[in-house]
Amino acid sequence: MIELKNIRKSFGDKEILKDVSANMEPGKTNLIIGASGSGKTVLMKCMVGLMKVDSGTVLYNGQDFTAMDDHEKKPIRQEIGMLFQGSALFDSMTVEQNIMFPLDMFSSMSYRERRKRMQECLDRVELKDANKKFPAEISGGMKKRVGIARAIVLNPKYLFVDEPNSGLDPQTSLIIDKLIKDITVEYNITTVVNTHDMNTVMESGDHIIYMHQGKKQWEGSNEDIIFSEDKLLNDFIFASEFFQDIKEMRKLEMFRDKNWRAKQAGGGNK
Ligand SMILES: Nc1ncnc2c1ncn2[C@@H]1O[C@H](COP(=O)(O)OP(=O)(O)OP(=O)(O)O)[C@@H](O)[C@H]1O
Ligand SMILES: [Mg+2]
Repeated sequence: MIELKNIRKSFGDKEILKDVSANMEPGKTNLIIGASGSGKTVLMKCMVGLMKVDSGTVLYNGQDFTAMDDHEKKPIRQEIGMLFQGSALFDSMTVEQNIMFPLDMFSSMSYRERRKRMQECLDRVELKDANKKFPAEISGGMKKRVGIARAIVLNPKYLFVDEPNSGLDPQTSLIIDKLIKDITVEYNITTVVNTHDMNTVMESGDHIIYMHQGKKQWEGSNEDIIFSEDKLLNDFIFASEFFQDIKEMRKLEMFRDKNWRAKQAGGGNK
């Protein structure tokens, strides 16, 4: 579990994160949502230690990450996989070289073992016949898959993904979301995803943190969102009439489902 306690971060006199406390639940896809500029990327960078917090603590399994020096942080850093916006692949390396890179740098495996692990991860993200291709030769969706494969190659306990769907069409976005969610469950990873893609929120968020102007405005499950009365959250998620209608429909469906389950349970007791 990752716990954030009273995180504050400013740039100059501009306060970006204003006393943010939240929990990232283990084995789940935790989503950080919010408008552009609300502080999602800064918060993620503070969590992984790419930015230093001004005050507050980030705890990994109860250990205070923010109080550690670089040497002490190393074991936790090695359990972190990251995929940042735009995939950040090495252009001069092939797909397989990109995925091998963290293994070459950090693992003590033999060359044969490293190649085997690389191929396992490529297979897991279902990238076929792309081993020898360069990033410039593959599509945006394929680049995301390579990025995911590279992020999981060292078997991370924690996976951080910033805007996995930027630049992707809706259908490819859904496939990438599902891949991240499936991998999270399969390998029991604590995953944190920054997004403003509403499809992602409704389909794949187990636990959702809504940021508004540097503050945590709301926290809950994607089922809670349907029933939430928080005006800012509702205006953000269900901005269009179309989405408001969907919300009402989903609400009805969930009521019906609940009643049906209650009836079934009642019937079973007789
Ligand atoms: N290194 C930096 N120096 C100064 N200001 C910064 C820095 N990084 C971010 N900011 C500011 O912090 C605020 C929050 O930025 P952040 O990138 O976290 O937003 P975001 O929620 O990720 O937005 P988006 O959805 O567009 O990615 C912005 O006003 C941004 O200008
Ligand atoms: Mg961002």
